Amino acid sequence: MTLVDPALLRQTADLAIQHLATLESRPVGARRNVSELSVALAGSLPEAGVAPEQVIDDLARDLDDGLVASPGPRYFGFVTGGALPAALAADWLAAAWDQNGFNAVTSPAAAAVEAVAVEWLRALLGLPADASVGLTTGGQMANVTALAAARHAVLGRVGWDVGERGLIGAPPVRVLAGAEAHVTVGQALRLLGLGSGTVVEVEADGQGRMRADVLARALAGGEGPAIVCAQAGNVDSGAFDSLVDVIAAARTHGAWVHVDGAFGLWAAASPILAPLVAGAEGADSWATDAHKWLNVPYDCGVVAVVDATVHRAAMAMQAAYLVRTGEDERSNGDWVPEASRRARGLAVYAALRSLGSTGVAALVERCCALARRMAAALEPEPAIAVLNDIVLNQVLVRIGDDDAATEATVAAVQRDGTCWLGGTRWQGRAAMRISVSNWATTDDDVDRSADAIRAAARAAAGRPPSEAGRP
Ligand SMILES: Cc1ncc(COP(=O)(O)O)c(C=O)c1O
Repeated sequence: MTLVDPALLRQTADLAIQHLATLESRPVGARRNVSELSVALAGSLPEAGVAPEQVIDDLARDLDDGLVASPGPRYFGFVTGGALPAALAADWLAAAWDQNGFNAVTSPAAAAVEAVAVEWLRALLGLPADASVGLTTGGQMANVTALAAARHAVLGRVGWDVGERGLIGAPPVRVLAGAEAHVTVGQALRLLGLGSGTVVEVEADGQGRMRADVLARALAGGEGPAIVCAQAGNVDSGAFDSLVDVIAAARTHGAWVHVDGAFGLWAAASPILAPLVAGAEGADSWATDAHKWLNVPYDCGVVAVVDATVHRAAMAMQAAYLVRTGEDERSNGDWVPEASRRARGLAVYAALRSLGSTGVAALVERCCALARRMAAALEPEPAIAVLNDIVLNQVLVRIGDDDAATEATVAAVQRDGTCWLGGTRWQGRAAMRISVSNWATTDDDVDRSADAIRAAARAAAGRPPSEAGRP
């Protein structure tokens, strides 16, 4: 038995490289569905093991048609970053080193690299110098972590230790969020026992921005511990709540302000786009993703909390066997819900170091410029209407002012394979979402994709409405 099998790892690297080389040319969507793929993989667990080379070869072959070229340059679905070369390579090291990123005892290397990476993130994102930062699995858990700290803080202020006593019998906590808050905020509130159905939903404007005047009135209409969930970057339109006004309203009423900036917070890294997040540094907690706009491989989110004591009180755990090296040394596990976990700081460090601060700004600005290019290419087409102000990297379009035509266009573009994008409902009507979030996307990628979208839209809008939804 050898600990290292160089031939297997080289074979795997070759397979990975071959796949990456196809990203620009393969159909962007998958060619087989789950049931079809499962047929090749399924069967009962063999009694005798299969040689590792065979396992890897079979996996690569049997799953190839089910791979989505989402790290490629013409994937515009959801809000999806690719993987920067340095980040991908560092992530390979993370797997090979297999460090437990929990704390400085389980891996001094994982703790050290995360300590540096979060320092860089703090500066890039314009967060207060003493904010504590953790690396979560993604934006969802960043929201959970931040709102756990919020819950701890606002209840602590009225003398209730939620960590010790839980929520049964606790003073009620009012949570206020924009009507366009991301679904993961509601999920976080459910997980934290605050409930999503009790949220005071604050009216949003036509771009999806929470109305600060309505928020101020809602805050004035109640009392007790309160948390305001603001948003930097609406998942559909990319719009930003006016953080200055939202935070001012919240401060008047002593509310905690959480900013969900899963991708929008990255605007802070660009001197040109930073005005969009003006005032963000005055919030109490922030959530963003590195696997979106920083283009590190899945999975990596970022949570920051203004008060490290509260953050740690909400997340850290103690046990006799969980020794620490000292209070000054970073303990990654103090800032996230998980204990054992991968050393995801490696990919963040590598991404940031390979880009530098100007490179991060350029990446974000380039995606926004490409989103504007996409909108400009689509808008002249009579069948297409652009629904949102392109303030960031998101473009929302509607075809033939018709739900069925819009849905048919989304389906046709997905089938065509030049690019991939998804649908949504925007203010009650079907819309197509285009999110430009990949470091590798070029003008040519956008132009080719716009051609494919225009052709699909023409075909869908040209049909009688009753037929528009049919394949
Ligand atoms: C505004 C916002 N918040 C939270 C999330 C959730 O992030 P994740 O999918 O990384 O959990 C997203 C994802 O798109 C988002 O756009």
